[in-house]
Amino acid sequence: MRQTSQHGQWTSRFAFILAATGSAVGLGNIWKFPYIAGENGGGAFVLIYLVCILAIGLPIMIAEIMLGRRGRQSPINSMRDLAVEAGASRFWSWLGWLGVVAGFLILSYYSVIAGWAMAYVVRVASGVFEGVTADGVSNIFGQLIADPEKLLAWHSLFMIVTMLVVARGVKGLERTVKFLMPALLAILILLVGYAMEQDAFEQGVLFLFQADFSKVTSEAVLTAMGHAFFTLSLGMGAIMVYGSYLPRKVSIGSTAVMIALADTVVALLAGLAIFPIVFANGLEPGSGPGLIFQTLPIAFGHMAYGSIFGTLFFILLVFAAWSSSISLIEPAVAWLVENKRMSRMRACIWVGLATWGLGIGTVLSFNLTADIKLFDKTFFDILDYLTANIMLPLGGFSIAIFAGWVMSKENSASELQIKSPILFNGWLFLVKFVSPIAVAVVFLNAIDVI
Ligand code: PHE
Repeated sequence: MRQTSQHGQWTSRFAFILAATGSAVGLGNIWKFPYIAGENGGGAFVLIYLVCILAIGLPIMIAEIMLGRRGRQSPINSMRDLAVEAGASRFWSWLGWLGVVAGFLILSYYSVIAGWAMAYVVRVASGVFEGVTADGVSNIFGQLIADPEKLLAWHSLFMIVTMLVVARGVKGLERTVKFLMPALLAILILLVGYAMEQDAFEQGVLFLFQADFSKVTSEAVLTAMGHAFFTLSLGMGAIMVYGSYLPRKVSIGSTAVMIALADTVVALLAGLAIFPIVFANGLEPGSGPGLIFQTLPIAFGHMAYGSIFGTLFFILLVFAAWSSSISLIEPAVAWLVENKRMSRMRACIWVGLATWGLGIGTVLSFNLTADIKLFDKTFFDILDYLTANIMLPLGGFSIAIFAGWVMSKENSASELQIKSPILFNGWLFLVKFVSPIAVAVVFLNAIDVI
C-alpha cells in the first residue's frame, strides 16, 4: 500500500489528535447534545449515549482511522483499493460516495446553524439581551430566523471561512486547529466555572446523570446512537480522510481513545455549563433546537457579566463548528483533487458553491417554506434525520463490516499494531459482532420492524 498521501500529512500525532478532536467537537456537542438530552429527559438518555460511544463509536472510530491510513486517499479511492487488496468487489467505493454525499448534506445545514451562532456573537456582545424577558428573546431569535437574507448572509460568511481553510490543504487544517482547540478548551473551562457559581449547579448535575428510564423510547435510543456517530464524526469518511494523513508510526488505538474521550468530556462539560444556567433561571430544558439560542440568552441577560460570558459562549460555538465543518467537506475536496486533477482551490470553489446553494434550502425552511412538510418534517428536519439517523449509522455499520469481515486479519493487525492480543481480539470482536448487531437492532427497532 502507499506510504503517504499525495495531499501531505500531519506533522505529529498531537496534530492529528487536535484535528480529529476538532472535527468531533462541534455543534453536535454544544448545540445538539444538550437539547436532545433535554428533550429525552436527561440522565437515562445520557447513559445510553455513553454506552453507544463505548461499544459502537470507539471500535468504529479505530476501524475508520485504520482504513484511512491504509488507503491513503480520499475515502472513495481508499475503499476501492482496500476492497481490491482484500479480494472483494471494487464497488465498496460506494461507501466513500455515501460519505461524500453525507458530508455535503450535513455541511449545508451545519453552516446555517453555525451562522446563527455568528449572528449571536454580535447580538450578545452588543448587549441587546441585557435584562431581556423570555418574550424578548423569542422575538430576537424569531426575527433572525424569519429573515432569509440575514440567515443567508451569515451562512455565506461561514461557508467562506470554512473553504478558506480547506483550500490551504493539510497544513491549513493543522494551523487552524492548533489555534482553535486550545481557545475552545479555555473558554469552556471558564464557562463551567461560571456555572458552578450558580445555586442550581447541583440540579444541572442531577438532570444530566440521574437516570429515569421511563422516558426512554426506541426512537430515543436511535437518536442516542445516531448522535454517537454524529458527535464522533463517524460513518462518513471525515475521520477516514484525516486518518489518511496520519504518519505510519502513530498507534491508532490509543489515539482513538483520546479523541473519543475528549469529545465525550466536552459534551458533558457543555451540559454542565448549560443546564445549571437554564435551571437557575427557571427555564425549560426540553425546548428543542432553540435551547441555547432562546433560553441561554435569557439567563445571560440576567446575570453578572452575562454579556461577556454569553459572547464567549457563542464564540466557543463558532470555533467548534469551524473546526468540524472543514472535515465535513475534506473527503469531497480530496476526491476532486485526486480524480479530476483539479487544484485544491478550484475544488474548494466548486464544492463550496454547491454546499452553499443547498444550504439555501435550510435557510428557507425556517421562514418562507416552513410550512412545507414531508412526514411532518421541514427540509432542515429531513436533512438532519436522514444524515444523523440513517446515513451515518449505515456508513458506520458498513465500515464495521468491512473492517471485521472483508479486510484480512493480518492486514488489520499490521496496520493497527496493537501489542496486546487481548485488546486486538477485543476490538475485532466488537467490530465483527457487537457494533454491527447493535446498529442493526436499534435501527430496525426504531423503524418498527422488530
Ligand atoms: N462531529 C461534529 C459535531 O459534533 C459533526 C460532524 C459530523 C463532523 C460528521 C464531521 C463529520 O458537531
